[in-house]
Amino acid sequence: MPDNTQKYVAAIDQGTTSSRCIIFDQGGAIVAIDQREHRQIFPKPGWVEHDATEIWSKVQAVVAGAIAKAGLRADQLSALGITNQRETTVLWDRATGKPVHNAIVWQDTRTAALCGELGGADGQDRFREQTGLPLASYFSGPKAAWLLDNVPGLRARAERGEIAFGTIDSWLIWNLTGGTDGGRHVTDVTNAGRTMLMNLETLQWDSSILSAMNVPEAVLPEIRSSAEVYGTAVGQLSGVPVASALGDQQAAVFGQACYDVGTAKNTYGTGSFLLLNTGNRPVPSKSGLLTTMGYKIGSDAPVYCLEGSIAITGALVQWFRDQLGIIRTADEIESLAAGVEDNGGAYIVPAFSGLFAPYWRSDARGVVTGLTRYVTKGHLARAVLEATSWQTREVVDAMFQDSGVRITTLKVDGGMTKNNLLMQHQADVLDVPVIRPKVSETTCLGAAYAAGLATGVWNDLDELKSHWQKDVEWTPSMEASIRDREYHNWRKAVEKSFGWEE
Ligand code: G3P
Repeated sequence: MPDNTQKYVAAIDQGTTSSRCIIFDQGGAIVAIDQREHRQIFPKPGWVEHDATEIWSKVQAVVAGAIAKAGLRADQLSALGITNQRETTVLWDRATGKPVHNAIVWQDTRTAALCGELGGADGQDRFREQTGLPLASYFSGPKAAWLLDNVPGLRARAERGEIAFGTIDSWLIWNLTGGTDGGRHVTDVTNAGRTMLMNLETLQWDSSILSAMNVPEAVLPEIRSSAEVYGTAVGQLSGVPVASALGDQQAAVFGQACYDVGTAKNTYGTGSFLLLNTGNRPVPSKSGLLTTMGYKIGSDAPVYCLEGSIAITGALVQWFRDQLGIIRTADEIESLAAGVEDNGGAYIVPAFSGLFAPYWRSDARGVVTGLTRYVTKGHLARAVLEATSWQTREVVDAMFQDSGVRITTLKVDGGMTKNNLLMQHQADVLDVPVIRPKVSETTCLGAAYAAGLATGVWNDLDELKSHWQKDVEWTPSMEASIRDREYHNWRKAVEKSFGWEE
């Protein structure tokens, strides 16, 4: 039974493989949750697309599902927050509301050559000073440029103002607030910051990059803060203020209450993304990390992060299950791995979309090393899990090099944190405690918090911080000599993944 004295906030998390809607109460506890998967479209090796229309209908379905499970009416929701897979790029017709092409997903590598051309003599760092990002196929700007160049007639229509560009937050907010009938075309700083078109200092579109990438300003949404009322929803959520947008990794920073400089979280999903709060100034990276937005709450000063983005972690378990068929369910990997003492000498580097942080090598491809006849599927299961913790270790080392901050604990969340064996290995290879909070749905929670702050459900960050509670802590127990040997072997395996031609 809903409590009439409570305020409720809904959050939509539109992720790479599924959409979910969670309704939270004022204590930050989950009241109801609904989730649906959408299709992954692989037209060619390295290409990954989503149908944005399908995503919009799945989002509507999970909103309806969560409201029904909570036993609430839409008018009992104080606010709606949005969080989303970042960088995935949609272009749509403003008059019909229809996407002009499938969305190009963040993992898609079709713009690798275009990024090489854009870099010219300056290479990957051409726009790093303004954007904090290396030129890589990961980001949205080159994806938009690719669509404008490859969908017949699209560039002329875009220049006439007929086409809208958006990351998934923009696409959802436009549809939620009316679509062709007055929908708001906005984005927030955390999502805009991943296009490679936003200047990190001004928090506005950078005209010199727009002209270098040949993206017309007429297609772009307005950049707003992460927590403010962008508009009012229509349809099933009629009247609910749409009051936050954050890229999913930044939403997890917010939901994990990483509000102090030096606090960090790692989210284990399709990939893993470790973000460290560096305060109100962007910290440039020399070690292969991204300088990125953390969040901006209304008119408060922006908060920046250093980010280590790892493209493939949970997706390696999916590959082990779906492409190799070695396990039937993702959970089975833990018992298979627990049946052996160690990795038997095997290492798997899952460079399926090249390697992201700290290498940014689009010529990298996956490798398995150390195979002997001794190696069993149990050892390979270990190597699959260890690939996640070693990639995280490399990112943590890069963070120390860039910021001088040595993390003393790591807050974790996401699906893979259910896996005890992996989390223990993570603590062992980092040599710091790894801590999971009671509410592990931190991505939705962060979006709900931001929306609730914008609408007076919560007063300030201290109040939100007081909700955070520890659930499980894994303490390191690996001998230093073993850790050093294993890390050395991992890095040798990584080197073998470089230099593969298409
Ligand atoms: O940058 C990509 C990231 O936002 C995707 O997150 O959780 O949907 O895999 P996820």
